[in-house]
Amino acid sequence: DSSVKALASIEVDISNIQEGKEITVLWRGKPVFIKRRTKEEIQKAEQTSMKDLIDPQEDKDRVKKSEWLVVVGVCTHLGCVPIGGKGEYNGWFCPCHGSHYDTSGRIRKGPAPTNLEIPKYEFVNNNKIKIG
Ligand code: FES
Repeated sequence: DSSVKALASIEVDISNIQEGKEITVLWRGKPVFIKRRTKEEIQKAEQTSMKDLIDPQEDKDRVKKSEWLVVVGVCTHLGCVPIGGKGEYNGWFCPCHGSHYDTSGRIRKGPAPTNLEIPKYEFVNNNKIKIG
């Protein structure tokens, strides 16, 4: 049914997101963070050693374009919404029980067992992302 399909995916204009900023959009009732990473944030994410990760995953396997990180904004511990630009790894911090995520949305410290989930998405063009 087409109305269900229409709700299943959303298109987001990303042209106004400045470097270092993120926006939160709602997709299927969940927050999704779209973050335009700085060069420093990208570098940190790419240079992290796999042995330092709780849920090892290369940054390149978590992004389609290194400048843009798109993650579901739901802590993988018990589902709180983490806060951007916070925590010991300057990615996201979940205040509920203290989970620290890095600039790739990977869990680095605290009780969350896995990285922030990557939703299905694609770039429609340079200014638009389709989620879902
Ligand atoms: Fe995020 Fe528990 S829900 S740390």
